[in-house]
Amino acid sequence: MPTKLCQVPLLRLSFYLALLFVVPISVVGQQDDARPTDAATNRFVDQLLTRMTVAEKVEQLEQAPGQPNFTPPAKAEELARSGVGSFLFFTDPVRINELQRIAVTQSRLHIPLLFGYDVIHGFRTIAPIPLAMASSWDPELVMKTQAMAARETRAAGVEWTFAPMVDIARDARWGRIMEGAGEDPYLGEQIARAQVKGFQGDYIGAPDHILASVKHFAGYGAAEGGRDYDSSDISDELLYNVYLRPFHAAADAGAATFMSAYMDLNGVPATGNTWLLQDVLRKDWKFSGFVVSDWEAVKNLETHGFADSPQNAAVLAASAGVNMEMSSSLYREYLPGAIKSGAFSEARLDNLVRPILAMKYRLGLFTHPYVDMDKFHRETLSTEQRDAVRIAAEQSAVLLKNDGHTLPLSKSLRSLAVLGPLADSALDTVGSWAIHGDRRDTVTIAKGLREALPNARVDVAKGVEISRGSPTIFDEQVVPDQPQLKDDEARKVEFDHAVELARSADATVLVLGEAQTMSGEAASRGSLKLPGEQERLMEAVTALGKPVVLVLMTGRPLDITWASAHVPAILNIWYPGTEGGHAVARLLLGDANPGGHLPLSWPRDVGQEPLFYNYKIPHNPRNVAKRYWDLLSTPLYPFGYGLSYASFSFSDLTLSSPDVAAGGSLQVNVKLQNTSAGAGAEVVQLYTHQRAGSASRPIRELKAFQKVSLVPGEIRKVTFVLPADDLMYWSPALHRNVLEPGTFDVWIGSDSNATLHSTFNVIESRN
Ligand code: NOJ
Repeated sequence: MPTKLCQVPLLRLSFYLALLFVVPISVVGQQDDARPTDAATNRFVDQLLTRMTVAEKVEQLEQAPGQPNFTPPAKAEELARSGVGSFLFFTDPVRINELQRIAVTQSRLHIPLLFGYDVIHGFRTIAPIPLAMASSWDPELVMKTQAMAARETRAAGVEWTFAPMVDIARDARWGRIMEGAGEDPYLGEQIARAQVKGFQGDYIGAPDHILASVKHFAGYGAAEGGRDYDSSDISDELLYNVYLRPFHAAADAGAATFMSAYMDLNGVPATGNTWLLQDVLRKDWKFSGFVVSDWEAVKNLETHGFADSPQNAAVLAASAGVNMEMSSSLYREYLPGAIKSGAFSEARLDNLVRPILAMKYRLGLFTHPYVDMDKFHRETLSTEQRDAVRIAAEQSAVLLKNDGHTLPLSKSLRSLAVLGPLADSALDTVGSWAIHGDRRDTVTIAKGLREALPNARVDVAKGVEISRGSPTIFDEQVVPDQPQLKDDEARKVEFDHAVELARSADATVLVLGEAQTMSGEAASRGSLKLPGEQERLMEAVTALGKPVVLVLMTGRPLDITWASAHVPAILNIWYPGTEGGHAVARLLLGDANPGGHLPLSWPRDVGQEPLFYNYKIPHNPRNVAKRYWDLLSTPLYPFGYGLSYASFSFSDLTLSSPDVAAGGSLQVNVKLQNTSAGAGAEVVQLYTHQRAGSASRPIRELKAFQKVSLVPGEIRKVTFVLPADDLMYWSPALHRNVLEPGTFDVWIGSDSNATLHSTFNVIESRN
C-alpha cells in the first residue's frame, strides 16, 4: 500500500484538515494499515452518506473513461472536482496522483477516486493470455501470477481490475475465448477462484492487491454463432450446470465487484436483468460488493429495445442492481430527476452507493490516496515480475505433437531458421488485452532464440504478411504494425527468401498463427484457418524434409489439421507475454518442459463449432465420431490433452469403497509412473458420468485434477477425495440441485479420453 500520503506538506495539512471535517477521528486513526472491520466500514459509510446530496451520491455511481478522446483532460479534472466515483483507463501514476489530489482536496466531501483498468493478464509486465494460464491447470500458479500483476498495478495507483473474465466459451469463433479459461465449468471454477484470490489477496484492501471484477455477468461466452456481442440463449440447465458456475465460485471467493454483460440473455439484457443481478447474485450467492456495467451497457438498454428512453434505461439498470455505470452518464443525467418524480427512491440510491464507498474505505483510499513513486519504479517490470511471467509461459505452453523426439532441439545446432509473421513481432507476442504492455519490453521468439543460441546462425524472416484488414477497437495500438500491402512480386520474393533460409538451416522454427488483433474483443472469426498464406509457407518448408517445428501463437484453437498430419512437432504457446521469447527458447531447447494441457476441445474444422467434451450422449452413440458425413465430429486434440518431454503411464485405479452416501466421500487412487528418462509433470484428471437420473447427464464431467511432477522412473500413488456432493447437479426436471442414487462411471487419465475406468454407486439421495 502506498505510504506517502502527500508529497507537498501544505497539501498534506489541508488533506488532514479535510478528513477531520468529513471523517470522525477514530475512523481515520483506526484504518491505517489494519484490516477494517465490517462494523467500522458500515459506520464510516453511513456517516458519509448522511452528508451527501442526491447529486453527490449519483456522481459516485459514474465511471468516466480516462482516454482524452472520450474525456478531455480539463473535463477529467472537472469530474474529479465534482466528485465522480471512478475513472477507467488512467495508467500514468503522475496523472493518477494529480486527479486524486483534486478529488481529495477540492471536491466538497473529499472522497477519493477509484481507478479501474483492464489488467487482464498483466499491467506493464504481461503474462500469457488467460486461456494460456488456464492451460497450466495450476490454480496456484494462476493465483501467484495475478498477485504479481496486482502488485505492479497497485503500485501505479490503479486499485481495480476488470478481470477475471470467467465466461465459459465452447465456440472457438468467439474472439474473446482467449480471455477466459475455456470450455469446462470445473476448471473454470478453479481458475476463477485462483484469479480472485490472486488479485485481491486474503481480504479486500490487502496491501499490494486490487479489487477484482468478475465478468461478463452472464452468458456472454454463449454469443450466438460465436459472433461478438450477439444475444445468448442458454437453457436453465446449462446456466446452472455450466455457465454460472465459475461466477458463483468467484463470488464465493469474495470477489469485490461484478461486471454486467453487454448482451441480451434469454430475452432480457444482462445489464437490466433483475433475476441475474438480484435473485441469483445478491440473494442466492449473498454477494455484497458492487456491480459495474460493461462499457455503455446502461445506455444500450435502449438500443436493445428494453428501455424506451435514456431515463428509463437509467432507472431499469439502477433498479436491477447495477451500481456503477461505465462510460455513459445516464445515471448522472436522469437519476436525480427519477428520484424527484418517484420513479426511483433515495433509499435505493443509497443502496447503490454504499458498497462503492465501502470498497474505497476498505482499500484504504481515504487515508492513503496517492501513489508512492519510488515503489512504482521498484515494482514495474522488476526481475521478479519478469521471472513470474516467464515461468507462467513455460507452464502454459501445450505440446500438441512431438514425433520422433523432434523437440527439444539440439543446442549444438549450427544454423536455425526462425520464420513466420509472428516470429519477431513484439506486439503480437503479448496478445490482446495487453494495452499498457510496451512492445519495447517484450522478448520476441526470434530474440529469445538468438540469445539462447549465441554460436549458431539464426536467420529470421517473415515469409508472409498477415493483416486483419479491418479496423479494431484498439486501433491506436495496432495501426503501426499493419503491414504495407505488397505487390505479388514482392510477396513472392519474401516467401522464396524464407524457404531458402529453411533449406540452408539445420532446423526451422515456424512461428505462425494469428496477429493479436485477430482475437479478443470484436475479433470473432468465421474461419479457423491460419490467416493469409501461412499454410502455404508451412507446406513449402515442411516439404524440404528437414526438422521443422510449428510454434503456434494464437488466441483460439486454429485449424491445424494439415500440420497435425505432416509437421513433426507442434508447440502451442498461445500469446506468451513479455517474456515469451525467453520461455519459448527454453522450451524448444529443453531447458524447460511444456507444462500445458488444453482447456478446450481442439477442433479439426470450424464446422464442428461449438465443440466441447461434456456433451449429452446422443442417439446412436456408437457413431459419435460420425455426426457429419463429410467431417469427423471428434476433436483433433481432446479437452485436457497435452504432451511433455517426459512420458507417463497410469494403472491401478482403485476406490476406497464401491458405494458413497450423501455427505460422504470416496477416495479414488491411481498409480502414476514417469516412464521416461526426463523429469516432468502430468495433469492427472478425474472424470465421472452419472448413468441415469431425473435428467440426462453429460457423457463425462471433469471432477478433479492434480498436476504432479515426477523424476525419471518415479512411481506415485495419486489420491483424490471425491465428495458425493460434488456429484450434485441442477435438474431441469426437478428445478433444483439434486444428488441422485445410482451407478456412476469414473475415469482417470491425462485427458478427457481417459480409458482407465471403474464404477461406484451413490446410495442415498440428497434433494
Ligand atoms: C468492454 C469489455 O467488454 C470489458 O470486458 C472491458 O472491461 C471494458 N470494455 C473496459 O475496457
